[in-house]
Amino acid sequence: MRYEPIQNTLFIKNRDRFTAKMKANTIAILTSNDVKHNNADDVMGFAQNNDLFYLSGIDQEETILLIYPDAYKKEQREILFIKETNEHIKIWDGEKLTKEQATEVSGIKHVEWVQDFEMTLQYMAFEADGFYLGHNEHLKRATKDQETQQDRMIAWCKKKYPLHEYYRAAKITRALRPVKSEEEIALIQQAAAISVASFKRVLKVCKPQVKEYELEAELTYNLTKAGASHHAFQPIVASGKNACALHYNTNDAMCNDGEMILMDFGVCYANYNSDTTRCFPVSGKFSARQKEVYTSVLHCLKEGSSLLKPGITSSDYEAKMANLVETQLIKLGLLDATEVANQDPEKPRYKKYFMHGTAHHIGLDVHDVGLYSRPFEAGMVLTCEPGIYIPEEGIGCRLENDYLLTNDGNINLTAAMPIEIEEIEAIMNTN
Ligand code: GLY
Ligand code: MN
Ligand code: MN
Repeated sequence: MRYEPIQNTLFIKNRDRFTAKMKANTIAILTSNDVKHNNADDVMGFAQNNDLFYLSGIDQEETILLIYPDAYKKEQREILFIKETNEHIKIWDGEKLTKEQATEVSGIKHVEWVQDFEMTLQYMAFEADGFYLGHNEHLKRATKDQETQQDRMIAWCKKKYPLHEYYRAAKITRALRPVKSEEEIALIQQAAAISVASFKRVLKVCKPQVKEYELEAELTYNLTKAGASHHAFQPIVASGKNACALHYNTNDAMCNDGEMILMDFGVCYANYNSDTTRCFPVSGKFSARQKEVYTSVLHCLKEGSSLLKPGITSSDYEAKMANLVETQLIKLGLLDATEVANQDPEKPRYKKYFMHGTAHHIGLDVHDVGLYSRPFEAGMVLTCEPGIYIPEEGIGCRLENDYLLTNDGNINLTAAMPIEIEEIEAIMNTN
């Protein structure tokens, strides 16, 4: 692991909170993700299933977690199944967790090899009335066309035990995961801290005729060196009008003198993520118009983020942010005040220049799980990311920070990352 071990008390607490929400006499089964293959014998790498990680801390493939709080035998209340290693795996892939190490990581005393899962479950299934199974339930982009380990477990379980009741484990985890514990907040804070030095380094090497991917390389080098596990997502390094494509990440263009760069990147540390966006001039000096647009977006970030407090709903917050941006678009001469006053509320004009939401949960997932119908609460960590995109001027500007909500307002976990125009220009113009 590239990160310091996490105290297993976090996962023990998480399981306690999860089991408190399970129906009587049910078994929860959570599986790891597949190792994704591409061509020939190559693999794209492994990303643990975040619900399994949340409940066990196990960061290894071929893992199954079984929780049966009402099992009459105490040793059957929590069982972790892990991959049994052998000489071949050891020689080619290195060490895998021993049963003792799995207990140390997760706090689960009963650990078995994964090949014994079906037989072990069979003994318990006859006592139980139902199952909670894992599934990727993301709002917009859940896997549709790829069969996952979760899909296979659901199909297998329903075939083998067709008359049991079935429930969604994700319904419980999406209620628990948005409110972060102290340990989780510290891990997000650590991810954010790693990102700051990398960003400053990019500012130093940026100059006209640098390629976007050279800036990406600088970012990757520095955040890896500082202890990040990897990028939280494919970073966006977008110069000039490329910044107007919201999910641009080909990062292959030349950065020209006079353009502004939008860099949206995050750090993954111990499976927890940060997500930040900054904009800076290729030359080290913002043009007058870039300054105007940047100042407007920064104003929206400052005003909008102050609204991120316990009690507000996502839709009220987004409506207020839209008003803030709309006012700035009028000020920038991009919208006409009278036309805005008379606009069809179903087709607001600001959407031409600002077309995305500005607050998402962040944690084990960059776009973390959680219902947006639930008012924000203390302990939630949310991004704030207003933007203004003007393709006809070759300017796209978004600024993004991560905030911990508390009963006294919020704390900017990314406050150490330079954001004021003067700070950015000063870093870019000193050796
Ligand atoms: N980078 C994706 C986002 O900011 O939500
Ligand atoms: Mn974001
Ligand atoms: Mn982002």
